[in-house]
Amino acid sequence: MRVYQVVLLAVTGIVIAAIAAFILYGGGTGVKGVASIGGPFALVDHKGQPKTDKDFRGKHMLIYFGYTYCPDVCPTALQSMTLAMNQLDPETQKKITPVFITIDPKRDTAEQLNAYVENFHPSMVGLTGTPEEIAKTAQVYRVYFGRAKGIEEESTDYLMDHSSIVFLMNPDGEYVTHFTHATPPERMAEKLAKAAGS
Ligand code: NI
Repeated sequence: MRVYQVVLLAVTGIVIAAIAAFILYGGGTGVKGVASIGGPFALVDHKGQPKTDKDFRGKHMLIYFGYTYCPDVCPTALQSMTLAMNQLDPETQKKITPVFITIDPKRDTAEQLNAYVENFHPSMVGLTGTPEEIAKTAQVYRVYFGRAKGIEEESTDYLMDHSSIVFLMNPDGEYVTHFTHATPPERMAEKLAKAAGS
């Protein structure tokens, strides 16, 4: 082997290692350090009952953050979650709790969520809380949200900007994978069956 070939091999090796590290540690995906997604929360469900992350242990959580007044993206995401769940056998469905966490607690009261989750999978749990608890929960899931600009502060007819990611957490509350609102339900169902199927 000539010297330049050795150098070329070494350089190739370094480049491959760098790419592998980039992929493994999530550079550029916006999702860094798998273990750092998710964490404790203390909220109120759509029946008005207090619920913490610990109440969901023992089952997978399929979590989406959004708001009930969202005109398009949130309903699409929740519909995809519902269609994906419906493609699973009943036993697997029982092992997954679809969860909708509002990022608009001002308008999304427990009553509002109760009426809204009825449109989706029967086991879907809606969660709301104080603005502080919601902000904390979004933060542990690295979800961005904020009131969209352009409508006066006093108006209750406003839009929210927010990330649109569906998280799959395992029965210990740890991150497994994520989807977007544009992930086809069939693909989501495949991953859910793989994670929770028997
Ligand atoms: Ni939305």
